[in-house]
Parts: sequence; C-alpha cells; structure tokens
Amino acid sequence: MKHAFNQADRMANAPLSKIRDIIEKSLAYEKAGHDVIHLEIGEPDFDTPKNITLSAIDALNNNDVHYGPVMGKVSLRESIAKKYQQQYGLTYTANEIMITQGVAHGIFLAMMAYLNPGDEILVPDPGYLCYFTVPEIAGAKAISYSLNASQGYQVDTALLEALITPKTRMILVNSPANPSGSVLDEHSLMAIAQLAIKHNLLVVTDDIYADILFEGEFSTIAMLPDMRERTIVLNGFSKYYAMTGWRIGYLLCPQTLIDPLMRLSFYSIACPVSFIQTAAETALNSNDDASRAMVAEYRRRRDFLYQQLNTLPGCRCQKPAGTFYIMLNIEGTGMTSEAFCQYILETCYVTLVPGTVFGAKGEGYVRLSYATSMENLKIAIDRMSQALLLIR
Ligand SMILES: Cc1ncc(COP(=O)(O)O)c(C=O)c1O
Repeated sequence: MKHAFNQADRMANAPLSKIRDIIEKSLAYEKAGHDVIHLEIGEPDFDTPKNITLSAIDALNNNDVHYGPVMGKVSLRESIAKKYQQQYGLTYTANEIMITQGVAHGIFLAMMAYLNPGDEILVPDPGYLCYFTVPEIAGAKAISYSLNASQGYQVDTALLEALITPKTRMILVNSPANPSGSVLDEHSLMAIAQLAIKHNLLVVTDDIYADILFEGEFSTIAMLPDMRERTIVLNGFSKYYAMTGWRIGYLLCPQTLIDPLMRLSFYSIACPVSFIQTAAETALNSNDDASRAMVAEYRRRRDFLYQQLNTLPGCRCQKPAGTFYIMLNIEGTGMTSEAFCQYILETCYVTLVPGTVFGAKGEGYVRLSYATSMENLKIAIDRMSQALLLIR
C-alpha cells in the first residue's frame, strides 16, 4: 500500500534561505576551477578566541557533560545579568534569563510561545529571513514594516501604526540590523515603544549585533520607560565572539513572560549543551580584547567598502553603523537585484546576496558581507568595477 507522507501544513510557507542557492551556484564555479570571492556569508571570518575554546576543552575534560537546568546554568545566567546591569543599567534576575541554542532558537521560542494561529506580527523589511518564516510555522502572519534607505532605515511612525490591526500581537525589532547594518535611533525606538504600549503589543528585540557597533552607544528598546515589562530581548555569542558553530544564545524577559518560553525550550532541546555554557561564561567573564580587535577590523573594512562601493558605476551605499553587512543600491545599473548578483557571479566570480532575500524592500539592493579579509575585499572591488564598466 502506498502512503503519502505530506509535510504538515505549518511547513508550507517556510522555505530555506535563497542564500543556500547562491552558495550552491558559487560551488559550481569553484568546481570549474574559478577562484570565487564570497561576500554572501553571514558569519565572522575569525575563529573563536582561544581562551573560550580552551575553556570548553577543560569543561569536557572535567566531565561537564550531563543534563543541566532547562533554563541553563545559573552561573552563566548570573553573568548575563551582570552584563546587562553594567552595560545597559537593566536589572534581570537569573530567573528572568534563559540560555537558548542561538538567537535563531530564541526567535523560534518567542514566536511559537506567543503567537496564535491568525495573529499578526510586524517585522522589518528588509529583515532577517526567520522573522518572515517562523511566524508562518506558528500559523501567524508576518506583516512587513518598511525601512527605507532614504530615511536611514529609520521607522516611519505613521506607516507602522497604520499596519496595526486587532490581530497584531507582536513587533520585531532588530538593531544593528541584518541586512542594512543600520542602527535604530532614539526616535525610532521611542516610536515603536509608544505604539507597543498604546496597542498592548509584545516586543521581541533581536540584539545579536549589539556589540558590533562602530559609532555611538547601543540602546536596547527594553531600556525605554515601561518597555522592560513587554519585551523579550534576544542576544547571543555567535557574532561578537565568533561562535556561530557553538549554537548558544540567550533571552531576557520579565518573570511573567518566561514560563511558556521555558516549557517550549524543554520540549525542543531539553536543556542547553553543558560544556558550551561553561565556555560562554568564560567569554563573558574574560577581557574581550579579541572581540574588540575583530570589531576594529570590521570597521576598517566598512570604511574601505563604503568609499570604494560608491565609486562603482550605477552603485551607491550608505555607511552602516554596525554589523558586518552593507546594502548596496544597484538601481543605477538598470538590473534587478537577482540579475545583478547573477551577472557579478558569472562575470567575475564574486558572490553577493540579492536584497529581495530580505523582503520586497530589498529590490534594487544587494547585500555584501565584509566578514572576509581586506585582501578579498580589494579583489572583489577590482573585479566588480571591471564587470560593471562592461555594461556601461
Ligand atoms: C539578525 C540575526 N539574528 C539571528 C541570527 C542567528 O544567530 P544565532 O547564530 O545566534 O542563531 C542571525 C544570523 O545571521 C542574524 O543575522
């Protein structure tokens, strides 16, 4: 007898990122012997600082290999509480902090635990793919709020409020942002906070790039008056400590919100990995000179790219304030973002990501990641400028 094992309906609108297709295409060029420069990658090109790696090895040697608390080790949660107190003046107890398997897991927990089928969540466009797809898995609807380059990727309060309906339950905030590298200013954060309070919305803020900031001081929306009580803060170790493969992050929220998040985490991962938590604690409690050096290098690369990209025919860009991404406006070339990426890949073997991967607002843009060496960036710029001269 034949069985049709169809996927659950909730998976219908959750495709994998198109970035995977781009990587596959570039692999084909590499197999054919071409030297491809990868500017599509969303992870640090640095290795995890040695003291963190050694701490995990020590932990393994000390048999730190058993189940632990569902919320994560208390000592790690206390270290996170200390960071939030010192860095942002925010007070959280260990009972208000939970260790997750990366921010991706935190996004999943927040949306699955707090969105009902039919609910709406406002998400930034352009924005990180999970913000669009995870609500769909929850049976909810992601409604895009536009962030325009012409407004420095800041929030248009009237447009945002117009999107709020009786079904709206949550607003997602991401600053510094993937893919634009922009940082929400005080006015934007205030506008979101006021709307969240007025319409009784939960705010989920993805602060994963908080420490990769080149200008000014980072403020999380949870710092604004009356916001701590309605905000789930997500943060992690992947980017600042170059720990993408370790799969560890955390969330902070008031005691009143944590219980369903904790139960869902139990039912998805049982508990976070024990020895990795020990290494994460070492990361938080050591000096962060290695991470600071990475940020200084990202900044040097950003300055180089900002200057160079604006000289490319048909291209222009703004100076991002954080992350390791830059959005390049390619409208002047007359190509769509997908056609541009395809053209650049096939003529000069540089991989970029079409802005449309991050939402409809990404049309006319491509994202470059500068989590690669300066040498590679120089080669990429040389190749791209030659390729673009051909189309003039
Ligand atoms: C905005 C944003 N949030 C979350 C993540 C995932 O982070 P993690 O490795 O902690 O799951 C990424 C990764 O690219 C990201 O860009």
